[in-house]
Amino acid sequence: MKTKLNSILTFVAVAAFTLTLVAFTIPTSQDGDWPLPAKYKTMVNKFAGDDSDGVGEDLFKQHCRSCHGNEGFGDGSKAKELKTEMRDLTSKEVQSQTDGELYGRAIIGHDEMPNFEKKIRDEEDRWMVVNYLRALAK
Ligand code: HEC
Repeated sequence: MKTKLNSILTFVAVAAFTLTLVAFTIPTSQDGDWPLPAKYKTMVNKFAGDDSDGVGEDLFKQHCRSCHGNEGFGDGSKAKELKTEMRDLTSKEVQSQTDGELYGRAIIGHDEMPNFEKKIRDEEDRWMVVNYLRALAK
């Protein structure tokens, strides 16, 4: 009797352990499940509001449109091939983030959202992209 109880307990323990492992290994890249390092939230945009030369727009068309679509709605030609659902960049959920957070997401990326540190090297250009994301929502 005791051995039977022991094997049941062992089974339960192993099952619980396995489930925990599975829960932590399955990629959970859904909206909102993208923790950013805290430093981005308070990062200051020294170039806020400025996209006077259309640099941000050009970079967006060159690097972002294929997935995010011309207007940022998430309907670019590559969007269908992606597993991750993209939020509309003009939506409240996206626009309520700070410029720094948008910078962290747009330039550093995560999973299927590519990293642009090498493709967009200039700091001012990066912020121009953020400014263009703001302009999209207007
Ligand atoms: C290969 C397709 C692809 C390209 C190219 C791409 N993105 Fe993304 N982007 C994604 C995906 C997928 C997500 C959603 C990621 C997630 O939620 O895990 C995302 C998320 C974002 C977010 C976060 C939105 C939110 O939910 O808060 C921003 C901001 C963003 N992208 C900006 C850009 C900018 C700016 C560029 C160009 C410099 C760009 N992206 C290029 C696929 C792409």
